[in-house]
Amino acid sequence: MQTLGQKVIYQIYPKSFYDSNNDGIGDLRGIIAKIPYIAKLNIDMIWFNPFFVSPQNDNGYDIADYYQIDPRFGTMADFEELVAKLKEINVGVMLDMVLNHCSTEHEWFKKALAGDKYYQDFFYLRPAKADGSLPNNWSSKFGGPAWEKFGDTNLYYLHLYDKTQADLDWHNENVRKEASKIINFWRSKGVAGFRFDVINVTGKDTVLVDSTDINEEKALYTDTPVVHDYLKELNRTSFGQDEDAITVGEMSSATIPNSIEYSNPAEHELSMVFTFHHLKVDYKDGEKWSDYPFDFMKLKQLFTDWQEKMDQGGGWNALFWNNHDQPWALNRFGDPVNFRVESAQMLASALHLMRGTPYIYQGEELGMMDPSYTDISEYVDVEALNAYQALIEAGKSPAEAFHLISLKARDNSRVPMHWNADKYAGFSTVTPWLKPTDQAEINVEKELASGQIFTYYQQLIKLRKEMPLISAGHFQTVFKDHPQVFAYRRYLDNQAKELLVINNFYGQETELDLGTYADKACRLVISNYDQDLTKLPAKLTLRPYETIAWEI
Ligand code: NOJ
Repeated sequence: MQTLGQKVIYQIYPKSFYDSNNDGIGDLRGIIAKIPYIAKLNIDMIWFNPFFVSPQNDNGYDIADYYQIDPRFGTMADFEELVAKLKEINVGVMLDMVLNHCSTEHEWFKKALAGDKYYQDFFYLRPAKADGSLPNNWSSKFGGPAWEKFGDTNLYYLHLYDKTQADLDWHNENVRKEASKIINFWRSKGVAGFRFDVINVTGKDTVLVDSTDINEEKALYTDTPVVHDYLKELNRTSFGQDEDAITVGEMSSATIPNSIEYSNPAEHELSMVFTFHHLKVDYKDGEKWSDYPFDFMKLKQLFTDWQEKMDQGGGWNALFWNNHDQPWALNRFGDPVNFRVESAQMLASALHLMRGTPYIYQGEELGMMDPSYTDISEYVDVEALNAYQALIEAGKSPAEAFHLISLKARDNSRVPMHWNADKYAGFSTVTPWLKPTDQAEINVEKELASGQIFTYYQQLIKLRKEMPLISAGHFQTVFKDHPQVFAYRRYLDNQAKELLVINNFYGQETELDLGTYADKACRLVISNYDQDLTKLPAKLTLRPYETIAWEI
């Protein structure tokens, strides 16, 4: 049996993977049709974004029925077939559990609205303050206040996300029982993986106090101690009963000590955590909607801290550059125009050779990049559209606001997968729900015939399975102060050999003084340029986006 460290997880955004019935939306039969493609990568599990019944106000993160497949995506029979066919190629299924909130179309919310006290206790319902203002001053993460009128009562319900996503009150034991029941239902269908959406905000207090500083607001309800209790309980009553369970909590701003507790096996909470600190290094003063070059030294420091300290504390990282909520890393940290292949390979190496479990987001293995949209009407995401309005209201011109949206919109990575160069990228025969662009240059057909990114990912996945230095080694950053190079060593306690990984994060050449590594014998493990050294020099000239891993 493979260890967790040997596994690689692929992420599929079903709405954008492959449309088998030509309605413009990807579906489960589309995924089944593409299993031969998926098999080529040799990944171990697939995380599927939600395909449960949903009005789709937040693309499925607003769930109206946790037990049914949304007819847009297929049927339960399709799902069962998908699980069975993936099992044939040894690929497990990871489902997205969105349990912090449910859709206002969910029967729990509808019953609550109809006056059922039992279900009213499932939500955070609060009266207005004495002066008639909202129960507190919290903001929704999608803009505007976090409160909405609860029918024609005097109450408001809390929604940290869209107003159609009502927060569930996890203090209520019945809510937590429903959560276990949902997980156990999917376990009974052969599902062993679970990704828990924004699970670290389930620990809101019962008294929801005003925030005094908007930037500190989330600290009031994020990573509170009770979240650990909830996770321990969920583990005990559901997925913890499966030996092969793999779980990941989405915990955008969690601290290292908390993440250690969430992911250290001895705590019986989760297998690993997704944090987003490294994907905020191109936010100006913490502001996402900004045009700001990434802070390389900060990125390096973050990787160093998270890699070294999580290891020391027995925690485990989920490693990722991309997902359905992020613009492509290639646009942010690489150069898709001048060095698309080299920078895609470098980013892949830098991440896959670290300690943790790597995730590959669909299309990353092709070097997909942000779409070349020219008008705000081409975006569909509620977050992008709200942000555009807010930017205009804050005084930005339409062109400036559009520019900021184009840099950071979540739709960037939700664009349908490019299968070929056709008008609709081979994704569908009709206009897709979101427009693909640049498919003539970047697509599966072309990549498999003559590309160098897909094969590079294949090599990285293979190396992780073969080399304990990669799957189990410790991590230490080296050449820490170099302004262009992120380099690290991986080593095992009982082994003389180590892995030295060197990544030039820029499109300019740079010199690296190899210090005590000079003259050591080296064996090339992987690189994106030709390498023929068998002994390390004192100084190395790294080419644009060059990445090299040597066993020494
Ligand atoms: C995180 C998900 O990844 C994102 O797509 C969603 O909008 C929010 N959680 C709310 O569920």
